Amino acid sequence: MKSMNIAIIGCGNLGMALARGLIDSGVQASGIRLTRRHTDVLSSFAEEGCMVMSDNRKAIEGCSLVILAVKPYNVEALLQEISPGIIAGQHIVASVATGISTATLVSLLPKGTSVFRAMPNTAADVKESLTCVCASGSGRDGSEVVESLFAVLGEVIWIEEALMEAATVLGACGIAYVMRFIRAMVQGGIEIGFDAHTASAIVQQTVRGAAQLLIERSSHPESEIDKVTTPKGCTIAGLNEMEHHGFSSALIKGIKASYDQINGK
Ligand SMILES: NC(=O)c1ccc[n+]([C@@H]2O[C@H](COP(=O)([O-])OP(=O)(O)OC[C@H]3O[C@@H](n4cnc5c(N)ncnc54)[C@H](OP(=O)(O)O)[C@@H]3O)[C@@H](O)[C@H]2O)c1
Repeated sequence: MKSMNIAIIGCGNLGMALARGLIDSGVQASGIRLTRRHTDVLSSFAEEGCMVMSDNRKAIEGCSLVILAVKPYNVEALLQEISPGIIAGQHIVASVATGISTATLVSLLPKGTSVFRAMPNTAADVKESLTCVCASGSGRDGSEVVESLFAVLGEVIWIEEALMEAATVLGACGIAYVMRFIRAMVQGGIEIGFDAHTASAIVQQTVRGAAQLLIERSSHPESEIDKVTTPKGCTIAGLNEMEHHGFSSALIKGIKASYDQINGK
């Protein structure tokens, strides 16, 4: 991938995170083309050697990998614009547009084009994304390239397309759920005596540490909870009080509500 020509079409927040990740992982800037209408926003990438332009058709010429990073409502018009320049067998197309199925992408692209869909989250900005990726039914040619592309943003998991909406809820909306959890912990921390800055520092590292324990030990959350709940102690008193107020239930119901909303129920 390092010597590939790669076009990121619609280089906004996510596109810029991808471009940064690619450059930082050693992809030659001269092989990266970035498009958007307001190209001035991309001047720092141009200074690093990327080709910055607003001509989407020109950007994909001679590229192997085309990343669609526009908003979902721009996808159809964009594909009508660039599709005549896409060559099946040469271009691999990967879309990050939420809710746009590979069937829709395939229907707007030349027959036989390798098409992938991905759902990163905003932690892509700090290269800690969890990106769920799926291939279109028509084939997985180019899957290694697509995996290395999204690996520059963090971890990659391949899933069936039928789970893409669930992935959006758990992985992308999940960032917001965790942020609200963190904010509530900080508010509690202030009430028991810390200033906001110190409470935030304690909570952020505690959340990172908790996730790292699970990642490195592959343990179950409940077995880590057992280690810190002394009989008649303060941890179990707090945890049970949270559960009496519906802590786990509220989270599960919230995830289900997001899922119902994304599926138009
Ligand atoms: N942000 C995330 O973490 C995240 C996570 C999962 C999925 N997604 C998906 O990723 C996509 C991008 O999200 P985002 O947050 O990066 O949005 P964004 O910041 O709005 O980026 C999209 C960019 O597309 C450009 N654009 C619009 N029409 C264009 C056209 N015809 N040709 C070229 N560029 C065009 C816009 O720039 P100009 O106005 O300058 O053209 C805009 O900066 C969305 O489909 C979203 O659903 C994002």
